[in-house]
Amino acid sequence: MIRVGVAGAAGRMGQAVCEAVEGAEDMELTARIDPALGLALADALGDCDVVVDFTTPDTALENALSCLRAGVHVVIGTTGFDVDQLRGDFSANAFVAPNFAIGAVLMMRFAADASQYMAKAEIIELHHDRKLDAPSGTAARTAALMEGDVPIHSVRLPGLVAHQEVILGDVGQTLTIRHDSTDRTSFMPGVLLAVRRVAELPDSPVIGLEHLL
Ligand SMILES: NC(=O)c1ccc[n+]([C@@H]2O[C@H](COP(=O)([O-])OP(=O)(O)OC[C@H]3O[C@@H](n4cnc5c(N)ncnc54)[C@H](O)[C@@H]3O)[C@@H](O)[C@H]2O)c1
Repeated sequence: MIRVGVAGAAGRMGQAVCEAVEGAEDMELTARIDPALGLALADALGDCDVVVDFTTPDTALENALSCLRAGVHVVIGTTGFDVDQLRGDFSANAFVAPNFAIGAVLMMRFAADASQYMAKAEIIELHHDRKLDAPSGTAARTAALMEGDVPIHSVRLPGLVAHQEVILGDVGQTLTIRHDSTDRTSFMPGVLLAVRRVAELPDSPVIGLEHLL
């Protein structure tokens, strides 16, 4: 059994992760870590083999470093912080994905491919209005994988979950690649896969779900 702690357990993503971990036969949910639930990370590390972090851009890095220093593997879904700061000489591993949905990983791959053949591209990312960071981690990662300079436009509205359109243009034509997460369960198979694999990563940090597929 993998003992899993969830940081941000009271949040939108954290609640979904707790439910997914509880439903996994090879995992045990050992800690719901969240100031809103009165449990601090430092008090839970001894009970965890892996911590999954879906918190906020300004807490994720410190949480992850606390895990790594304690020899606890960490799977990070929080976006909007500098992942380079996770480098270091630790016995535990970090895995980071700006998007855990398989459809979004495919969207990024197809967009990177298409950008080699079409003249220009722009990204429109659309999220719920409680999201703290803009542009989204997924949009930033997509642009980094694509050829050329790709502008990003961010939309924040109630009613949305997580959506992205990559529009490529060339003479007399456009190509649109679109992904929609209509429910947070879309991210859970990717999160569980990362929890199962993080201990055996050849390198750390590893960034992007595509490296586990
Ligand atoms: N990688 C992905 O696939 C993916 C998908 C969706 C959202 N996200 C990202 O996940 C993050 C969380 O999103 P959300 O919508 O669940 O946010 P949310 O605001 O609903 O939840 C965040 C939770 O973190 C808690 N928190 C704050 N500081 C903490 C700390 N130091 N330790 C533990 N918990 C702490 C808060 O109390 C809150 O309950 C965001 O950065 C978002 O962009 C990533």
